[in-house]
Amino acid sequence: MAGRIPQSFIDDMLARIDIVDVVGQRIALKRAGKEYQARCPFHDERSPSFTVSPTKQFYHCFGCGAHGTALGFLMQYDGLEFVDAVEQLAGQLGMTVPELSSARDRGTEDLYALLAETADYYQQQLGLSEATRGYLQRRGISPEITEQFGLGYAPAGWDNLLKRFGGNRQKLLAAAGLLSQGDRGQYDKFRDRLMFPIHDRRGRVIAYGGRVMGDEQPKYLNSPETQVFHKGETLYGLFQARQRKGGLQRLIVVEGYMDVLALAQHGFSESVATLGTATTRSHAELLFRQAGDVIFCFDGDRAGRDAAWRALESVLPRLTDGRQAHFLFLPDGEDPDSLLGKQGKEGFEAQLQAAVPLSEYFFQSLSKDARLDTVDGRARLVERCKPLIEQIPDSPFRDLMEAELARRSGAQRPANSAASAPPGVDRRPPRQTRMGQLGVLRTPVRALISLLLSNPKMAAGVAQPPPFVGLSLPGIDLLLRLIERLRSSPAPAGAVIESWEDPREAHAMRRLAEVELAGAEADWQVAFDGYIQILVERLDQERAANMPMQLDQLSADDRRRYLEQLSAKAEADRRGRFKLD
Ligand code: GTP
Ligand code: MN
Repeated sequence: MAGRIPQSFIDDMLARIDIVDVVGQRIALKRAGKEYQARCPFHDERSPSFTVSPTKQFYHCFGCGAHGTALGFLMQYDGLEFVDAVEQLAGQLGMTVPELSSARDRGTEDLYALLAETADYYQQQLGLSEATRGYLQRRGISPEITEQFGLGYAPAGWDNLLKRFGGNRQKLLAAAGLLSQGDRGQYDKFRDRLMFPIHDRRGRVIAYGGRVMGDEQPKYLNSPETQVFHKGETLYGLFQARQRKGGLQRLIVVEGYMDVLALAQHGFSESVATLGTATTRSHAELLFRQAGDVIFCFDGDRAGRDAAWRALESVLPRLTDGRQAHFLFLPDGEDPDSLLGKQGKEGFEAQLQAAVPLSEYFFQSLSKDARLDTVDGRARLVERCKPLIEQIPDSPFRDLMEAELARRSGAQRPANSAASAPPGVDRRPPRQTRMGQLGVLRTPVRALISLLLSNPKMAAGVAQPPPFVGLSLPGIDLLLRLIERLRSSPAPAGAVIESWEDPREAHAMRRLAEVELAGAEADWQVAFDGYIQILVERLDQERAANMPMQLDQLSADDRRRYLEQLSAKAEADRRGRFKLD
C-alpha cells in the first residue's frame, strides 16, 4: 500500500509536522531536557519510559520497544491503516495526498456515493417490508441492532435499482457489483433478500451480503470484488465493533453475518466475521491492530477445523509481543447465534473464557497422529512444527514455543520408560525446558502470578522483602501485592480474585488463573524459583542501566559498557512486556 503514495510526499509531510504536536494531542507529554516523556500508551507501566524526540522526530519506548515516526504513532495509537494515517496528517497540514486525488480515486468517490445511496434505499425498503421486519424479529434482532448495522431489504423484481439509479450511472452500478449480466442485458443482482451492508473501517458502505428469507438457494449472495471491496481485507462488523465504548480489549471472530448480529444483540459488540472466506494474513493484521486478544470461533466439524487451522497459519506471522490468539470450537451443529439462544450471554462468555490458546491448539493438532513414542514420530513432529514456529516473529512467545517443541520431541520420554528408569536416575528434562511447559505464559511476571494462583502456599517461600523489589516491569506491582496477600493467608485463587479491589487487575488475574499449568506439580516450584531468579537478574541490569551518569565524563571504554547495558535493559524490557488485560 505504501507504494501508492509517493515517498517524497510522505517525507515532505513528515518534515512539516511536529511529532511532539501529534503525540501531545493524544497523551500528556512532559518536557525532560531535550526530549519529552510520558507513560507509554502501548503498555502498562508506572514510570515513564516513553520518549519523544523533537530533534529526531521520533518516539521510542524503552519499556516495550515501540518506536516510529508521527505516522507510525498515529497508526498504532488510533489504529489507522497507513493510507488513512497519511490522509489524516495531510489534512491537518492542509496538504492533498497526490494519489488520492487522481482520476481513478475520483471514480471511487462516485462509487462510495452510489453505494451510500443504495444503502439508504434498501433501508427505506426494509421499513416498508413487514415480512422482512418479521423475519428479523423472529431471529431475535432488535430495531436498534438493525439500525446500527444498517440492515435493509432488496425488494423482489429485476430492475428496482436499475430504474432508480441506472440511467447515466448504470456503469457505476455495475462497477459497484450491484448488477448481474444476462443474455438480454443487465439486471439487479440482489432481489427479495435481507441486505447486510458491508462497511469499511470508516463506515462507508463498500459491498453487500444478501440473505434469502426462505429456503431458496443460494442462501447468501455476496457482492463480487470491486475497486472498493476486497474480501480478503475486509471484516464484517469491524466498523461497528470499533464504536464500542471503552475500546476493544478483544475481538471475537465468527463465520456468519447472523452470528455477528446475534452477538451484538447480546452485548458482544466486539464481534466480526470474515466474508465467507478463509482468514487471511491481512485479516490477521487488521484484527490485531484493533485488539491484543483475538478469539476465533469455529464449528467443531471438519470444515470448521480446517478453517481454524487456516486462521492459525495466518496469525502466526502476526504474533508480535502482546498479541494472543485463542480458538473456540463450538459443539456440533451449533453456531454462536444458536448457542446464545440456548445458553445466553453468560453461557457464551463461559465458552469464550474456555477458548484454547493458540499454543495448545497448535501442539494438539500437530501431535495428534504423530507416534511420539518412536524416534521417527518425534522427528516428524519437529518437521511439521519447525517451519510454522519459524514464522512467529522473534519474541518470548516464540522461545516458549520452541522450548515446548523441544520438550515434546526430545527431552520427553514416553511415559512407560520413565517408570522403568533405574532408581536414582533423574529423567526429568532440564530446568529450562520445564519452564517451557508453561508455554502460554509470555513473561516471568505472568507466569509467577499464574503459579501463585494455583499454588498460594508458594508465596510463603519468597524471601522478604522479595529480592526483585524495585523492578519496574508491567504487572510487578500486582505480583508484589499478591505475594503479600497470600503470605498472610494462602487463600485459593477464587477467593483472592473475588475480594481484589481493582477490577482490572482482578480480570487479569482471572485469566491467568485459568491457564492450565502443564507438567507435574513438583516441577512448578522449580519453575517458580527460576522465574524469580530471572526477575532478580533483570533488576541488576536495570540498576546498572539506570545509574545516573554524564556520558561525556566517561572513558570510551566505560561509555561503551554503559551503552551495552542500556541496550541489554531495553531488550530485557522488551521481552518482559505484557499487557495486564
Ligand atoms: P443463518 O443461516 O441465517 O444463521 O446465517 P449464518 O450467518 O449463520 O450463515 P452460515 O453459518 O450458514 O454461513 C456462514 C457464512 O458463510 C455466511 O454468513 C456467509 O458469509 C457464508 N455463506 C453461507 N452460505 C453461503 C452461500 O450460499 N453463498 C455464499 N457466497 N456464502 C455463503
Ligand atoms: Mn446461523
